[in-house]
Amino acid sequence: MNNLKLNNSNIVSYIEDIFERRGNEIYAGEDVTVSEHMLQSGTIAKKRGLSNEIVVASLLHDIGHFNSEFGMFTMDDKKDRFHETMGAKILKPFFPQIIVDCVYFHVSAKRYLTAIDKDYESKLSRASKHSLNLQGGPMNPKEVEKFEKNPNLNAIIQVRYIDDEGKDPEMDTFPFSYFTPLIEETIHNSERMIID
Ligand SMILES: [Fe+2]
Repeated sequence: MNNLKLNNSNIVSYIEDIFERRGNEIYAGEDVTVSEHMLQSGTIAKKRGLSNEIVVASLLHDIGHFNSEFGMFTMDDKKDRFHETMGAKILKPFFPQIIVDCVYFHVSAKRYLTAIDKDYESKLSRASKHSLNLQGGPMNPKEVEKFEKNPNLNAIIQVRYIDDEGKDPEMDTFPFSYFTPLIEETIHNSERMIID
């Protein structure tokens, strides 16, 4: 983490810097980089007029791929692992629970949707289908029942569908700076919720 103490004032510029420096890295098996994929996801959510929380969750859902930037990397790691868990850990100190949940559960949501919707899996990208098996495959009925109890289920599912769409090499996106005020607002709202 380069000895930088992250707080509510510097977290957004820290994330922006990561997007810019590591923007050329290839997304595992997809035609777009991780940064492009996240900017596409944020752009899709914004253009659909969804809430700031959904926009920010869509934009940041794969931030865990950059866990080494946050001091969560060990020498044994060959690559970033369990990126959804890492992503939620990175965001939790700053962002409201709904955003943390959307990030933490975006892989589970794929397992959930393949269990409840027969057609869902056929629409996934090849890389996403491949990782589904590594991630445990479709949920069993007990897992489905438990997953549906999450109060943020709708938001989690929305972000998952957007995640599946944001893999288009031709798509134009808003730049990261466009999202900065939205991100700051969700952090600010999260602070208010803690104080209230
Ligand atoms: Fe993703």
